[in-house]
Amino acid sequence: PNPSEVSWLGTPISELKRMPECGEPLPPLKNVPGHHTVMIRTDLLQKDKVPVPYPTRFQDAWDDVHVKMPCSSRNLFPIEDEVKAQVSLVLSKVLEPDAAEHLFESLLPDMVQLALRASELCTKPIPLLKAGMNHSITMSQEQVASLLANAFFCTFPRRNSRKTEYSNYPDINFFRLFEGSSAKKTEKLKTLMCYFKSVTEKMPTGLVTFTRKSLNKPPNWKSSQTPLTKLHITCEGTIEEDGYGMLQVDFANRFVGGGVTGSGLVQEEIRFLINPELIVSRLFTEALDHNECLIITGTQQYSKYKGYAQTYQWGGSRLDTTPSDGWQRRCTTIVAIDALQFRNFLEQFHPDRLNRELNKAYCGFAGPEEKSQNLAAVATGNWGCGVFGGDKRLKALLQMLAAAEAGRDVAYFTFGDSQLMTDVHNMHSFLIQKNISVGKAYDLLGQYYSSECKNCLGRRPDVSLYSFIYQQVNSSLAPDDSNIGSARQ
Ligand code: AR6
Repeated sequence: PNPSEVSWLGTPISELKRMPECGEPLPPLKNVPGHHTVMIRTDLLQKDKVPVPYPTRFQDAWDDVHVKMPCSSRNLFPIEDEVKAQVSLVLSKVLEPDAAEHLFESLLPDMVQLALRASELCTKPIPLLKAGMNHSITMSQEQVASLLANAFFCTFPRRNSRKTEYSNYPDINFFRLFEGSSAKKTEKLKTLMCYFKSVTEKMPTGLVTFTRKSLNKPPNWKSSQTPLTKLHITCEGTIEEDGYGMLQVDFANRFVGGGVTGSGLVQEEIRFLINPELIVSRLFTEALDHNECLIITGTQQYSKYKGYAQTYQWGGSRLDTTPSDGWQRRCTTIVAIDALQFRNFLEQFHPDRLNRELNKAYCGFAGPEEKSQNLAAVATGNWGCGVFGGDKRLKALLQMLAAAEAGRDVAYFTFGDSQLMTDVHNMHSFLIQKNISVGKAYDLLGQYYSSECKNCLGRRPDVSLYSFIYQQVNSSLAPDDSNIGSARQ
């Protein structure tokens, strides 16, 4: 075929594992103090029924380890009519006349009701997922919806200024979305209103789990004998569309969701807009540390979209047909890992940065199970290489190493870059063919830094990373290869 017609290389995507097919049955869902906060009655869980909140009555916890709720008796934060007035004003400009009428007669009143029901729906105090904690929260999509309605009306106390006790948390109240009148914000609001319309018309019945995880013991990269895993690489399609059932990477900010409630509109923000249940993670997830990630299972996609960044447009509502798992969660798992932001090209090749990125990716990819036959492939792409300025070829390699160490195959979406597809595929095939382990590849990265980057004094290195690897492996392994060959004869 004509090379320009090649849209994918490597292992066919049909050979990579996806949930639910690859998974093992889940243990019963259970609240485990200190590990897993479950906000619903697990004994009453029934397919296609909205889960019942637990406990029956609202328990108020106005302290520094739980979310401070708008419905708390301790909340002195006034719910100003001003907010409502501003919201109305903004939305009436955004919407078509028909939609605007529906908005004021039905949607906004329904959203107000949904927000006000927080005290009957979110009865259990929501723990803050603080730095260093390994903890999960499971709540119903209805509970999420009520919390997001509150975020929309900006009712979470102490969350409108970053100078307060929540300075190390993302913004949750949506006030920035109502500021200004850029086309981007209009499209964002349309996307979010599509979600609120959907849940107020028909409440979804699933659960969503948010897991904060920290890597307590990083792998010993240098000594790893682990071979690389399979790679499917394509210049077409997206992580969310073609990576269904896989572990889907969110190119995150350490404040999860990045600029979703403000002006950001790239990969992470778009994902949070089309799957708005992700946004609630901002309510309780403290900024991620270098060795941490957040994993979210069960969110639903409510909207389609067109374009990207400046050209982003809401693309209408979308019916999500993803099957559910044994805990009534959609089989959509998204892992938020924040890459480092590089302003200087050379910096990312420094061994400390390599370790940081490898450990961050590994933290996200490593499964709870030991057996890799149950682990879905990682669906990823140019992590850290857009806004964060990383080198795509380096990051692709680092992610391949981390995925291999975690025992997962990789589906890599180059987002239209066919040269990258070819280059990464060739490198992967070469490393496999030469039996280069994770440890050996890691060593080559270190050599690249010390021989090509260290003394560059700010200039770009003369030799690219991939050229260096080809040269190095070919020259160092050639004699070995012939030795092995002759010993066998
Ligand atoms: N599927 C596959 N690849 C994609 C997709 C997609 N849906 N969307 C974008 N790409 P970027 P970063 C590719 O800049 O550099 C946010 O504000 C595309 O090639 O979002 O890690 C976060 O909150 C794009 O250039 O990720 C952080 O603050 C590349 O992925 C910050 O951006 C990188 O996307 C993270 O920046």
